[in-house]
Amino acid sequence: MTDHVAVSAAGGVLTLTLTRAEKKNALTHAMYDALVAGLAAAMADPAIRVCVLTGSGDSFTAGNDLLDFMQTPPDVTGDSAVARFLGALTAFEKPLVAKVNGLAVGVGVTMLLHCDLVYADQTARLSLPFAALGLVPEAASSLLLPRLVGHQKAAELLFFGAGFSAAEAERLGLVNTAVPAAALDALVAERTAALAALAPSALRLTKRLLRSASSTVAERMREESALFVAQLHSPEVAEAIGAFLARRKPDFSHFAA
Ligand code: COA
Repeated sequence: MTDHVAVSAAGGVLTLTLTRAEKKNALTHAMYDALVAGLAAAMADPAIRVCVLTGSGDSFTAGNDLLDFMQTPPDVTGDSAVARFLGALTAFEKPLVAKVNGLAVGVGVTMLLHCDLVYADQTARLSLPFAALGLVPEAASSLLLPRLVGHQKAAELLFFGAGFSAAEAERLGLVNTAVPAAALDALVAERTAALAALAPSALRLTKRLLRSASSTVAERMREESALFVAQLHSPEVAEAIGAFLARRKPDFSHFAA
């Protein structure tokens, strides 16, 4: 384990903070393992409704620790710390929020493609310098980035690896909202509190549908319909409709996440 990942929980929100600020939060194997453990803890705890990933100091993360990477490169079996982390990200079923407090490089950007909501400090700079390092994209970014921003824009970001601003990332749809640094904590606190107050199984199922592999309209309608009908009989819907009829706010706080 490592003391370079801090775990804190409050109000149903578990926050994983990278605390290796002196190395721009570059990710070591031990840090990936700690993130995997943190995500597993967030999944296992019914009181945790949302998970936040963030950094400390002036960086979200400068990506893989390049020294660590060269000394113990991931092998082709796929069982590496970074692969376990990416697997845990893609398997994470609850809402996942990134608070990009500063510089984000490499996997610091590609992990955002696996988060549900991304909020950033306006001064943050992002970059994808894989080709510039003689490498290729990872974390399925060669699939997800063009899907999000189009082929030409993805090619530009991945070929040249030049830094781009949080405002540009917001325009591209990679970031939901970029705000002044001083406003970031309050924004994320407000958004995560709002998420934590929503019906947890409805959020989980909505996330599942958003990431579904079914690709035709008919298939997707069938998938939605099965979940929709099942949810109609859920206690969460009973609470939501009961609250509407009683003209009160719904209270989902007693439902396990
Ligand atoms: N791996 C290992 N160490 C890293 C690192 C990384 N990815 N990124 C930064 N560091 C270390 C630096 O070596 C330096 O260590 P030192 O103080 O012991 O010399 C420290 O963090 C501070 O970084 P520095 O380069 O002095 O800060 P900067 O503000 O001038 O530049 C970056 C910041 C992120 C632009 C620059 O460090 C960089 O390009 N890092 C590599 C990023 C990268 O290629 N990531 C992998 C993508 S696949």
